[in-house]
Order: sequence, then structure tokens, then C-alpha cells
Amino acid sequence: MGSAGAEGKMRSRTEEPEVRWWQRGAIYQIYPRSFADSNGDGIGDLRGVTDRLDYLKDGSPDSLGVEAIWLSPFYPSPMADFGYDISDYTGVDPVFGTLNDFDELLAEAHRREIRVVVDWVPNHTSDRHPWFLESREGVDSAKRDWYVWRDARPDGGPPNNWTSSFAAVGSAWTLDEDTGQYYLHSFTSQQPDLNWDNPEVEAAMHDTLRFWLDRGVDGFRMDVINRIAKDPELADNPSSPEPGEPREIHHDQDWPSIHERLRGIRAVLDEYDDRMMVGEVHVYDLGRLVEYIASGDQLHLVHNFVFMYLPWDAAAMRASVDEFEALSGGRAWPAWFLSNHDHSRVVSRFGGGKLGEARARVAAMLLYTLRGTPFIYQGEELGLPDAPIPPDAVVDVDGRDPERAPVPWEPPSRAGPAAGFSTGEPWLPLSPEAERLNAASQSGDSDSLLSLVRRLAWLRRGDQCLQRGEQRSLDAGPGVFAYLRELHGTRMLVLLNFSEQQCRPSTTALPESGLLQASTHRGRDGNPSQLSLSDLVLGPNEGLLLRV
Ligand code: GLC
Ligand code: CA
Repeated sequence: MGSAGAEGKMRSRTEEPEVRWWQRGAIYQIYPRSFADSNGDGIGDLRGVTDRLDYLKDGSPDSLGVEAIWLSPFYPSPMADFGYDISDYTGVDPVFGTLNDFDELLAEAHRREIRVVVDWVPNHTSDRHPWFLESREGVDSAKRDWYVWRDARPDGGPPNNWTSSFAAVGSAWTLDEDTGQYYLHSFTSQQPDLNWDNPEVEAAMHDTLRFWLDRGVDGFRMDVINRIAKDPELADNPSSPEPGEPREIHHDQDWPSIHERLRGIRAVLDEYDDRMMVGEVHVYDLGRLVEYIASGDQLHLVHNFVFMYLPWDAAAMRASVDEFEALSGGRAWPAWFLSNHDHSRVVSRFGGGKLGEARARVAAMLLYTLRGTPFIYQGEELGLPDAPIPPDAVVDVDGRDPERAPVPWEPPSRAGPAAGFSTGEPWLPLSPEAERLNAASQSGDSDSLLSLVRRLAWLRRGDQCLQRGEQRSLDAGPGVFAYLRELHGTRMLVLLNFSEQQCRPSTTALPESGLLQASTHRGRDGNPSQLSLSDLVLGPNEGLLLRV
């Protein structure tokens, strides 16, 4: 964006470490197939994203005010895994548009001060990628070793017991009849794993990063990055955790070589100004997860799946947030998310219906007020539930269609059955609740979730304390997750009632009174604005943000 120089100057003037763009506000995930379709073929595309950028940020409080967008893959792909099977790392699939469309999207986003993060899928290519086509030609192919090929076991079975991440796929090995060897695939058989133990692969993949960095992207979301380091011996995975084993050992991922590999990747990003890498890391031990971000020369951010998988429980959330804070000891910057294109949506996962919708409001306040970067998946700001998918409409191998239903932009009664997403037949059915849950209707309703999310984003944007203040959890009684954010004497108090009962937060550690900044409850806002905390009653599923 060419603003790094200016930021550098500001830093020396204020003598405050500048909040980096990837810390300041939310990063909004766009799944391009389902965001907005510009040409009526029923599939979202890059021009569709460009057309909707004002919704994401137009400089006024009437937009989401996102700091950045993360675009799920739009590269040439046979779509066996809807773009996570890439056949060319340096192009755009015609269904999504052209490289020109991408450049225009990037320029238009930057004009609005929206950074652009693209998906990078380093663990595997498509089986149609020229590298794999060459690799499978024969055991003597110059690219044979770019993928993981092994002989069968003596009984003809696969080389080891590794299984695909997708339950429906089973073994992670497929026999190639022509050469009589098996190749490894951690996902579908159309996604062969690259062999990162081969330095040529590492160098070629670094070049794919430079291609997009040269075009001006601001960062990468790195797909299943923990899988680019595997046991070179390809030993069997333990079928169940060994008794007394200090850490869960997987031979097919998170091998100690991961840290050197991440340093190599980071060095490529550091050839450029102010870029960011966030990893999708399926490691469920927070201590190990923190090792991916704490050294300052690996990932900047990590997606924390321990947090994402928590039940709706104040004590569990508090414990997990506190554990992360304690482990990172100020060395690592957290990121928080509760949904993406692979997981059931917040409203559906946390109770569904009215209950799920009430909780989604609390979840929004949680994500925007915790110390760390919030990641928001498209449609979460509208409180979309998972869409029911009739059996004949199922397209995903791993049951993820419901959370990938297209975004409703306008009420179907006004815009037709595709709710402004497309003028054609959408590739997946929309939520039957699109008449109520669409962007236009919620824009005009100050009580909507969209309006709440906009308010939270706007508050955070104008508040250094929310952006980077210290954080301390407070005991406020059962069912309540309470924390204080603090910066140079400014304090913000967050009270989140996770229960369905009214409650009085216990006041021992709480200040006397506070100035209301936001509530998840309709009717509370600004009425009165100064609240005494000793007799405060939180409504069921109410979240409050106060300046104290
Ligand atoms: C990641 C992606 C998922 C994809 C898988 C394989 O988990 O988020 O959508 O199927 O990696 O690339
Ligand atoms: Ca289209």
C-alpha cells in the first residue's frame, strides 16, 4: 500500500509501537464462490467481490470497517475440493475471472484501505498440476521426488496407516497402476501431497509467494501449514495416544522441521514491506501452537482451533483465553475465530434458532473485544445459520455445503430467489431464512446483528485500548465471562452472560460504575448511559461493553 514509510515516521513521533494493520481490526474471510456473482452463472467471482467492497468498508460507520479480507482460493482448479486443489499457483480460474480482475480487486480494496490476504495451499497440488502430471510419468521422472511416492507393503497394501483428513476418503494413499507405487494425499486422491523434504519443492513454492507479493498482496492465509513437515521415515501414526506420552505425536504433520520451514517462508515475506502470514494450524495443544508464532520469525498469527471447538461455556472460554495469554507471555499476538468455510456456523452450532441468534450477538462482542485479531467468516455478521442441503444438491466430499451457502444480499421478495447473490441458479441453495437474514434488510435495522457488528467494529477502530490494551479476566460469577482491557489508565470492561438466566455479576473485582459503550440487547443502548455496577442486572445472553 506504500504506507509503510508513513507508518514508520508516525512510530518515531508517538514513541508508541504502532499497532500493525493485522492487529487493529477484523479480517473478513470471503469464500469467493458464495459471496457475490457478477455474471449470472450462479457462482461467485472476483468482480462480485469488487462490486461489494463498499459493504466491507466505505469510511463511514455504515459499513463493516474491516481491516483486511482473506480470499479463499480463486486459482485454476479442477474443483475436486472447490479450489483447494490448485493446478496453477499463479493464475485465476476462469470461473472466478482473470488476473486483471484480481489486480482491479486489489487496487479497489487498497483504495478503501482494505488489505488483501490470499490463500496459499502449500501442502498439496491438484493431480492436474503439471508438476504432478510429470511426477507420475514414471519412477525416473525428474519430478518424481516432488511428491511422496512409496512402494506397497509386501502384502500389496498402502505403505503406512495414515488416513485422509476426510473420513469419506479413508487411506491417505492411492495406488498408481502405471508405475505400481502409491502416492500420498492428506485430503482427496485428487490432492497429492508435495514433498517438502525436497529443496526444489521448497524453492518452487517460495516463488509462488513472490508472484503474489510482487502483485501487491498484503499477506497469506496458509492452508494446513502444519502438514508441510512430516516424519521423513513415514512411520505409522499411533492408533491411540501412548500412555505417559508428553505430547500427541502425529507422524504425518507438525514434525519438528516445521519451524525451519516456517522461517524459510517468513524470510520470503520479509523481502517485502509489512506483509503478514496467518496459519491454519490443526494442533490442539496450545503450548505447541504458540511455538508457531512466538519466536518472531515464523507465523504472525495462528488460527486457534482449540478455542473454535469450545462449547458455549463461560468458564471454558475464560480458561482457554487465559491459557493462551499465559503461554504467549506477551510474545505472541492472538487471533480469534469461531467459524469458517469448513465448520458449522455460530448460530447453528450454539443452539440454533432464537437461542443461537442471541448467542451469536455475544460471540460478536467477544471476538471484537478480546485482545487479538478477530476473524469473521462472511455471513456471520448476518447471523446466517447453516443452510439445509437436499441430498441431490450435496457437492462437498466432507459435508461442508451448509456453511458455504451463498450470501443473501437482498430480500428474495425484492431481488428474486437468489437474493441478490446471482441472477442465475446458485451453485448451492440459499438459507430459507434469506427474507429476514440478508444484508439490505439488516442494514436498515438498528437492532440487527449487522448493526451491532458495525458498532463494535467502529468502537474498536476508534479505541486504542480495545486494539492493544492489556487484558485481565475477572471473577464475575458463574455463567459470566468478564474481562478488563487497560491502556494508560483507560479501562474497558466486558461482561458476557453465557447463561439463559438474568444475573447480577458479582462485584468484588468490578469497578463502581461504567459508561455504556455497547450492549447486545436491544433497548439497553444508551439508556441510561452511566451504569452502576453494584446493582447491574445482565439479561439472559447479554453482553455489555463499558468504559470504567
Ligand atoms: C483446509 C481448508 C479446507 C480444505 C483443506 C485441504 O482445511 O480450509 O477447505 O479442504 O485444507 O486443502
Ligand atoms: Ca460468476
